[in-house]
Amino acid sequence: IPVETFDLVIFGGTGDLARRKILPGLFRRFRSGQMPVGSRIIGAARSEMDTAAYRSMIAEAVAEFGGDEKNDTKSLDAFVAALDYVAIDAKGDGGWVELAGLVRSDVVQAFYFSVAPSLFGDLAERLHTHKIANAQSRIVVEKPFGRDLETARALNKTLAAHFDESQIYRIDHYLGKETVQNLMAVRFGNMLFEPLWNNHYVDHIQITVAETVGVGGRGGYYDKSGAMRDMVQNHLMQLLCLIAMEPPNQYGPDEVRDEKLKVIRALQPVAPHHIVRGQYDAGPDGPSYREDAENPRSFTESFIAMKCEIANWRWAGVPFYLRTGKRMKARSSEITVYFKDLGHTIFEGDVARHRNILSIRLQPNEGMDLQVTIKEPGPGGMRLIDVPLDMTFADALGPDAEEVPDAYERLIMDVIRGNQTLFMRGDEVEAAWGWTDPLINGWEARNDVPKHYEAGSAGPEDALAMLHRDGRKWRELKA
Ligand code: BG6
Repeated sequence: IPVETFDLVIFGGTGDLARRKILPGLFRRFRSGQMPVGSRIIGAARSEMDTAAYRSMIAEAVAEFGGDEKNDTKSLDAFVAALDYVAIDAKGDGGWVELAGLVRSDVVQAFYFSVAPSLFGDLAERLHTHKIANAQSRIVVEKPFGRDLETARALNKTLAAHFDESQIYRIDHYLGKETVQNLMAVRFGNMLFEPLWNNHYVDHIQITVAETVGVGGRGGYYDKSGAMRDMVQNHLMQLLCLIAMEPPNQYGPDEVRDEKLKVIRALQPVAPHHIVRGQYDAGPDGPSYREDAENPRSFTESFIAMKCEIANWRWAGVPFYLRTGKRMKARSSEITVYFKDLGHTIFEGDVARHRNILSIRLQPNEGMDLQVTIKEPGPGGMRLIDVPLDMTFADALGPDAEEVPDAYERLIMDVIRGNQTLFMRGDEVEAAWGWTDPLINGWEARNDVPKHYEAGSAGPEDALAMLHRDGRKWRELKA
């Protein structure tokens, strides 16, 4: 879908996210011809610098964080020529008149608030008092979107004072990932899966987002959040919603988000013995969490596993096991659907438990595989074995497949197109906090101490035991 000419203002334009993700991503879109001629990107931040200095800063950022395309210096020069810079005082008057002079009112306007949430209100207000924003402007905000229900409500209220919900784009970058969207394509684009997608046929579902990185470098933020606030309340919750939601009647922003919201509302409170929090110890490759977080007495979790229930007609009785952690054995994000065992076997002597397992790999090595049972080849009679039907998207689509845009690129382009489907609505965010708050308050009130796990492992023993008790086991994390 074509994109209209736009002016994109990035508040926090010199920050980490802008330099690592937003601008290198925009450069890739620029190269693939998706940034219409005449579109401008305006960096706005506190530092005094001129546009020339900003352009070289961004050229350097692209060189550092971009892919192979960074070697295309001709395009890079043309790209940075579309950049401007304004030194701005979010809480005062400095820079606003200049910004007003740069932003045009006859093109799509987007304002990316890549700044601390405490500044959202100031920015939103000044965009109006200086008559820069209008009723069509879009604003983009990033997580953390609050740290609990109360703060999220306050933020929503602040934004709502200046912008309509249809103008607000709350980014959860997981929704921009190719395979995350593929979840919907797989479920609703095939006849094969949806009829089985319920408690008659599904035994349980696992959602894993395992990372090998630690929290070094961002311990200050992370130590106040922990895995629950940093990953579960947003990314894992979004995955859970897409896997569990009812089919929306069409692929439209409110249709999809209405269905996701219903899932969150149907999530049951989780009992303390169905939550395992963990914190990594030092391992061969690096320091402990407490060293990384520079807090020797920290009780923040860098790992969490939980057993969740969705109380609705489709899912009653089907556990959803979620786990996510830092400094784990492998980087692997996947969703695995374990179908029920066959009720009866017609093959004499076959005592193995055969079941179909559908696994959707979000990263790395995006793809799906489906475990199916077949006859073991050879003359030995009717012996059954389980084999994977593997579909790695890169292989299936071949080398000529279109380059897959990174999550940020895709989402920013959706902002310009005015498509909110892959963005969180205010009520969704609040409902998610409404579910996580009592769990967090519960372990804080109990002074819960996270279990230890060795860096580079599969997480604490207790997380393994939690599934064992249910006669199940976590899918192996493969390096
Ligand atoms: C971010 C979290 O939202 O997502 C990080 O704050 C985490 O802690 C990151 O590492 C994971 O994203 P990705 O795209 O690398 O899976």
